[in-house]
Amino acid sequence: MIVSIIVAYDSNRGIGRSGRLPWHIPADLRLFKALTWGHHIVMGRRTFESIGRVLPGRTTIVVTSSAAELPPDCLRASSLRSALDLAQQRGETECFIVGGAVVYAEAIQLADRLYVSEIEGKFDCDVFFPAIDASQWKEQLCRFVASADTSVPSFRFRVLERHGRVLSPVTLPIEVGDQC
Ligand SMILES: NC(=O)c1ccc[n+]([C@@H]2O[C@H](COP(=O)([O-])OP(=O)(O)OC[C@H]3O[C@@H](n4cnc5c(N)ncnc54)[C@H](OP(=O)(O)O)[C@@H]3O)[C@@H](O)[C@H]2O)c1
Repeated sequence: MIVSIIVAYDSNRGIGRSGRLPWHIPADLRLFKALTWGHHIVMGRRTFESIGRVLPGRTTIVVTSSAAELPPDCLRASSLRSALDLAQQRGETECFIVGGAVVYAEAIQLADRLYVSEIEGKFDCDVFFPAIDASQWKEQLCRFVASADTSVPSFRFRVLERHGRVLSPVTLPIEVGDQC
């Protein structure tokens, strides 16, 4: 099973503010949906509460150490490792870790692949993605997604894979921007 992280961050690696995304970028949301569709997605309890529902077409695993109440159609795990084991036992081929900051900080050590949307600009964020050690990762793909709407930022979408991992080739399920 490939362990993938999917994240959108700004030029400070900011990912959120007051429990929410600081931007609304429809093209990035479409990409998130297309990439994760049909797969297991793993998220922290706070990200789950921020989304507020189980996303259709995917199997949600919420990581929590508490007895937080969760809807019956989502799975619970008491650690990131047990969430990944659960996805693997259920036959997953690529499991997506979808945040937030607490979960990413642990997941960056064990991910095979990163799908990163680098949002242009600096937003007022209170949670951040960890620094990526460039020596450990190789870029497989880069697309620039220009926004025609001045209220919506453009972004660069990059797929990185950890050096030494031999993974199946990255295929994008939808058309995404222009080659960087
Ligand atoms: N830009 C993006 O791509 C993106 C993606 C996702 C989220 N976000 C943003 O990120 C923010 C939320 O992130 P966050 O860091 O505050 O919270 P989070 O990572 O979503 O959730 C943290 C919670 O998850 C549980 N947890 C995490 N690791 C665990 C472990 N190893 N074992 C057991 N439980 C574990 C704990 O829940 P309990 O307290 O219940 O034990 C912890 O309090 C929001 O602003 C959201 O919008 C941004």
